[in-house]
Amino acid sequence: MRQPIIAGNWKMNGSRDSIRELLDGIKAGMAEVNLAEVAVCAPYVYLADVEQQLTGTKLAWGGQNLSTEASGAYTGEISTAMLLDFHCKYVIVGHSERRSYYGEDDALVAKKFAVARDAGLIPILCIGETLEEREKGITEQVVARQTKAVIDAVGIQALGDGVIAYEPVWAIGTGKTATPQQAQDVHASIRNMIAEHDAGVAAKVRIQYGGSMNAANAAELLAMDDIDGGLIGGASLKASDFLTICKAAG
Ligand code: 13P
Repeated sequence: MRQPIIAGNWKMNGSRDSIRELLDGIKAGMAEVNLAEVAVCAPYVYLADVEQQLTGTKLAWGGQNLSTEASGAYTGEISTAMLLDFHCKYVIVGHSERRSYYGEDDALVAKKFAVARDAGLIPILCIGETLEEREKGITEQVVARQTKAVIDAVGIQALGDGVIAYEPVWAIGTGKTATPQQAQDVHASIRNMIAEHDAGVAAKVRIQYGGSMNAANAAELLAMDDIDGGLIGGASLKASDFLTICKAAG
């Protein structure tokens, strides 16, 4: 059985004070989360605080992006070694906001996946179609293309070392969630596509749903066969909502 994973993607939100309060709230409720693995992906500058507050707890943490370079003259960038220095376990790669606002294409995302995985971080690979792509009926081709770019770069076994997050772009931050069946259909298509390469990897790889998942809709999404957790934006900034989602995963 795949262990569900709920990860908060705080994006560019929070302050030292608000994060302390948020983590205190999450930690206080973790005793009621039985099954799910729980992680938070923080802005870089808060990773030291997060590490300090979460060391020794069941919670894991991670970054939201990484550089493909190891070190050197890359102003503003953060390396895998730096993330590991703060004991990050996870790192998000290819979030749609990085793809659309910062020009990250499939090849760069695949490289980031490879660099993260080679360093011993677990990449959370974000894929998903835009509204235009969904309306054209090419959702499955888009997520297959995005996934295949990583398989081509790292191989199918290495893909299985990561986590996949299916995040339809039209559902991110819009309050418009994919229906459980819509999400399940895409998750199943991703898993089937992976199974064409390796059935074992397809059976084990965790595929999260992301896009306006919240305390009210998490349970029905997480009940679907191929939805193995959530990547949560807005609702991860409120401890009670985030915990409700974590508990809905078991
Ligand atoms: P929202 O939950 O705010 O829609 O964000 C989802 C997301 O982009 C997580 O990475």
